[in-house]
Amino acid sequence: MRNRQFIPAIRYCDELAGSFLGCMNCILKRDEIKMLFCELSSTMLVEAIALIVALCVWKRLLSSIVFAFFMSRISKSHNSAIREQKMKLFSRLKAEAEKKSGREAFKVLEIGGGSGTNFEFFDGYSASAIEWTTTEPEKKHFSKYFNDNRSEFNNANFRIKSEMVACRAEDLDDFFDAYSFDAVVATLVFCSVQNPRIAISQIFRVLKPSGVFIFVDHVQAPKRTILRYTQNLLTESRLWPFFTQGCHLNRRAEDLRRLIQASADKVEVQVAKVKAFNAFMRLFQYHIFGVAFKDSP
Ligand SMILES: C[S@@+](CC[C@H](N)C(=O)[O-])C[C@H]1O[C@@H](n2cnc3c(N)ncnc32)[C@H](O)[C@@H]1O
Repeated sequence: MRNRQFIPAIRYCDELAGSFLGCMNCILKRDEIKMLFCELSSTMLVEAIALIVALCVWKRLLSSIVFAFFMSRISKSHNSAIREQKMKLFSRLKAEAEKKSGREAFKVLEIGGGSGTNFEFFDGYSASAIEWTTTEPEKKHFSKYFNDNRSEFNNANFRIKSEMVACRAEDLDDFFDAYSFDAVVATLVFCSVQNPRIAISQIFRVLKPSGVFIFVDHVQAPKRTILRYTQNLLTESRLWPFFTQGCHLNRRAEDLRRLIQASADKVEVQVAKVKAFNAFMRLFQYHIFGVAFKDSP
């Protein structure tokens, strides 16, 4: 009974398919259309290959060079936008250095220091001796900008080690012993770090007991905002990380605070919407600013 109902429908589909195939056959018999079809597909193939080659060249050769160039410029405007908050954080570090004044230099390790953009916060610093070591996985591309800043801000009391150490935060144990630094600084680094949990445990490993960790990063916007949807879309599609050396627009302030809290004795954080210096910076207007102290012995 059921089969009988289906037979006309099957026949109709059969006829429809037959006439479609007939039509296609008739169209494709025309030589010009066949040619057009072949040309179109070969153009598309060439364009797809060109796009793949361009993306590979970008990833392998250009992205780090372009990123270092833009970061060395953007970081100056970014510093102006968050000057007040950074000044406050670095004044905490200076206060710790001054407590130590008179004995050996206060040793600071900066993670992912890039162009050395934080040196300007120590311009003319003379209160006590600070010895600054910078790590940077993209050392090859940042060296030029780092050396320029180094020669501008290095002085008898603020001694910047001349060589950057080419190292990721996750691999600090390849280069530094435990308890080697009085302070660690990381600005705009956790957005790019592949494994923040390992990076933070490495940071607290190299810190001396009672050492101070100062951090700043851009974080995800509040829930149900257009900015948050945009950040998620750009990051999860991998479009943003692809063009910005692995930067994530949607790392959560709370996750970072929790990870640091797990290793620290005391953490103070502030999450704030900062002034955007251009339309592009609106994408990362929300920032976390923090100071953490390692356990005393
Ligand atoms: C947005 S830039 C910030 C540079 C600089 N700290 C500043 O405040 O302008 C991010 C930096 O983190 C570095 N970076 C990326 N992945 C890292 C990792 N796993 N460990 C340490 N640094 C990393 C990048 O090479 C880059 O220099």
